[in-house]
Amino acid sequence: MPFSFVFYTAHLRSAGPRTKGALKLIRTSSWVLLLGGICSIWSVAAIGQTSLAPKSRSAASGINDRSLDSRAEAILKGMTLQEKVGQLVQYSAGQPTGPGTGRSDYEDMIAHGQIGSLFNVLDPHQINAYQRIAMEKSRLHIPLLFGLDVIHGFKTEFPIPLGLASTWDPEIVEIASRVAAMEAAADGIRWTFSPMVDIARDARWGRTAEGAGEDPFLGSAMAAAYVRGYQGSRLDAPDSIAACAKHYVGYGAAEAGRDYNTTEITEHTLRQYYLPPFHSAVEAGVVSVMSAFNALGGMPSSANPFTLKHVLRKEWGFRGLVVSDWNSVGELIPQGVAINEQAAARKAFLAGVDMDMVSSLYHDNLEKIVSSGQATTAELDESVRRVLRMKLAMGLFDHPFVDEAAAPKALYHPESLALAQSAAERSFVLLKNADGPNGKPVLPLANGSQNIAVIGPLGEDSSYPNGAPPGSGPRTSLTAAIAQRAGEAQVSRFKGCGILDGTDQELAEAVAGAQKSDVVIMALGESPEMSGEAASRAHLGLPGRQEELLEAIVHTGKPVVLTLFSGRPLTLPWAFEHVPAVIAAWLPGIEGGPALARTLFGDVNPSGKLVVSWPRSVGQEPLYYNHLNTGRPPGDVDLTKPPADIVSRYVSRYIDEQNTPQFPFGYGGSYTTFSYAATILNTKRLSAAELNKNLNTAGKAAAMIAETTVTNTGSRAANEVVELYIRLQGTSVAEPVRALKGFQTIALAPGESMRVKFELKPEAFAIWNDRNQFAAEPSKVTVWISPDSAHGSPAEAEIVP
Ligand code: NOJ
Repeated sequence: MPFSFVFYTAHLRSAGPRTKGALKLIRTSSWVLLLGGICSIWSVAAIGQTSLAPKSRSAASGINDRSLDSRAEAILKGMTLQEKVGQLVQYSAGQPTGPGTGRSDYEDMIAHGQIGSLFNVLDPHQINAYQRIAMEKSRLHIPLLFGLDVIHGFKTEFPIPLGLASTWDPEIVEIASRVAAMEAAADGIRWTFSPMVDIARDARWGRTAEGAGEDPFLGSAMAAAYVRGYQGSRLDAPDSIAACAKHYVGYGAAEAGRDYNTTEITEHTLRQYYLPPFHSAVEAGVVSVMSAFNALGGMPSSANPFTLKHVLRKEWGFRGLVVSDWNSVGELIPQGVAINEQAAARKAFLAGVDMDMVSSLYHDNLEKIVSSGQATTAELDESVRRVLRMKLAMGLFDHPFVDEAAAPKALYHPESLALAQSAAERSFVLLKNADGPNGKPVLPLANGSQNIAVIGPLGEDSSYPNGAPPGSGPRTSLTAAIAQRAGEAQVSRFKGCGILDGTDQELAEAVAGAQKSDVVIMALGESPEMSGEAASRAHLGLPGRQEELLEAIVHTGKPVVLTLFSGRPLTLPWAFEHVPAVIAAWLPGIEGGPALARTLFGDVNPSGKLVVSWPRSVGQEPLYYNHLNTGRPPGDVDLTKPPADIVSRYVSRYIDEQNTPQFPFGYGGSYTTFSYAATILNTKRLSAAELNKNLNTAGKAAAMIAETTVTNTGSRAANEVVELYIRLQGTSVAEPVRALKGFQTIALAPGESMRVKFELKPEAFAIWNDRNQFAAEPSKVTVWISPDSAHGSPAEAEIVP
C-alpha cells in the first residue's frame, strides 16, 4: 500500500462526552479508497445540500445550557466591582502578536482578581503557574481562560485556511480543527481566536491567507466546520477548545487592501456578503466573537452597537462572549470617536464589547464608568455572566489545570500528520498543465530515471508553515520529498536566489543546473511573513529576483513546473503564458513537501479549486466573481485590445487590461478531464409567496432540484468539485452575475459518468431586498451546474409572485 490513512470518524461523530485520549480511529488501508470513497461520499452527503445554515446548533455550545446560569449567578453575587471588571480584562503574556502592552505585572493582577484571560502563553508549565495563582491566591478562585491564535493547526500545522478552503471540503476543515483542538487543549490552551470568517475580495490584503476566500456560501460552510471541529460535541471535554469567529465585521473590505484600513459597506452588502459566515458560526454554536479593528461607514467595529447588539444579540440571539481585537478599544481614540481613554472604554463597552484584549482601558476605567452611572451594574453583570458561563461550560472551574506530562503526547500523532498531508494534497490547485516537448502534459512527472532540478528559494523550506517555529516538528522540504520519491541521485538542487534578494552567481548556477536536467521544478513565491496580519502588498508579483530567475530557467528550453507558495494569488502574466505547468501550493503546512511530491508524480490527482478570483494584474483589485453587472457590461467587446471605437470604448473596462481574472473563482485543473451535460431543472416556475413561507423552516422540502451528468473523459480516477450557481434578475436590488448556492465533491473512475443532483432550498432564492429584508422576489432565475464560476450551460426558470 502506498499510503495508510486514519480517519477521525468516530471522534467527529460521537455525540456523548469523550474521555481524554479516547480518540477512536477508523483505518482505511488505502488512500485511493479514502479519496475515491469516504471523503467524496461524505462531501456529497454533507455539503451537497445548499442551506447556508448548518443543520443544528452544536451541542458544544454549553453556554446555552441553562443549568449553568445558577452557578454563574452564585459566583456573580459574591463579586466586588473590581473583580467583575477583572473578568473582562485580557492580556497577552507571551510572544506578542501586536504592538506592546506596556504591562507585565500579571501575577499580581491575577492574585487580585484583575484578569479574566491570558493569551500567547505556550508553555503548559507556565499556564499552570498562572492558573495556580488564580485558583489559590485570588479571593474567588475563578480560573483563567488561556487563548491563542490556533488558526490552521497547533503543532501539526495544516495548510493555511485559504488552502484548506481550496479543498472545498468542510469535513476536512472540521477534522483538521479537531486535531488542532486536541493538541492545543493538551497544552492548556482552551480558546482559539479562529476561525477568521472575513470575506476577502482583494488579494492585496495579507489576511486573505487566513480565511475561506471571497464567497459567503462557501465561507459559511467553512465557518461552521471550524466551529464544530474546535468545540467538538461537548465544550467541557478536555480536548475541546472554544472558537472565536473573527473579525466582526467587514474587516476584509479594508480599502485598497491595506490592513487595518477603513471600510465602507452598505447594509445590503453587509447582510448579503459579509455577515453570513458569522451567522453561520453563531448557528453552529460558536461561543465567542471578536470585534474588528476596521471602521465601518465611519463607525469602528469595536464601538458599533448596530452590528454588536442589534444584529448579533437581538437578531441572532448570540449568548456568548464578545472580545475586542488587540487594543481595538484603545484604537477608538486614533480612529476619532473617543477623545480620551475613558470615552474609548465607555463606547466599546456600551456598544457590546464584553472583554478588552490588551488595551487595559477596561482595567483602568470601567469601575469609574459604572460607579458614575455611565454604564449600569446590570450591563456590567451581563458581560461578566458571559465570561463565567463560558468558563463554566468549558469545565474550567472543575478542571483548571493541564496535565503537563501528558501534553507532548497529544502532538504530532502519525494520524494527525497523515491528515495534514492529505489536507495539503486536497488543497493544491492545478492552474495550468500544458504539453511538454513529448507532446504530453508536463504533469504528472514520469516515474523513471529522468534528472530533476529543483530550483528556487522555497525548495528547502516550503513546508515551513506560517507561524511554526523552525524545527517545531517533523518537516520534509519539497526538495527532500522529491529526492525520496525519485531517488537522491536523480535530484539536483539550486537556490537560484533568495525570496527577496539573490546574486548573479546564484542565478547562473541555477541556469547551468537546469541545462543539465530533464525537467525543472521551481519552488517560488512568498515567505510565510509576506501574508497574514500586517502583510498587505501593493505589488502582487514574485518578490525579489524570482521572476528574473523563472524567466532565465524557462529560456533554457527545459520543461518547467512552477510550484507557487503564497498566502494569496500572485499576478504572474508572463509565467501563465510561458511556463507549461503551474500549481498553487499556498502555504501547505507541515506535510506540504511530501504532499507536493506525491501530487507532482501523480500518486494523487489535484482536485483543489480556487476560492478567490485570481487577478491578472493588481489594478483589477478588488476582484470577485459575484459582482454586479454594470449598465455598460463589455459584452462581446474584445478586451485584449485597447478600445478602437465608440462601441469598444464606452463600456465598463480598462483600456490596458481585461476585466476577467486570470483564473476564475471555483477553477482548478486535474490530470484527467471532465465533461458536464446540460443543467436540468425539475421546475421552471417558483412562487415567491411559497418560498417566503418556507424560508428557514426546518425540514422543508427542496424548492427546486437541479441536475446534470458529469463524466470523467480522461484516463485517471479523480475527484471533481461540482459547483452550482444562480443569477436573479428583475429583483428590487441588483443581484450578482452569479452566486454560489451549492457544491459537491464526486469521485469518478476513468470513463465513468455520474448524475449530480442539487436540492435548492428556499433560501437559495432569497436576497436582502430594498427594505433589508431576507426574502424571495418575483424574478428571472438562471442556474448553472459547472466546474467553475465562468463556465457551464445555463438553465432558466422564473419566480412568480
Ligand atoms: C490581532 C489579530 O487581528 C487577531 O486576529 C488576533 O486574534 C489577535 N491579534 C491576537 O493575536
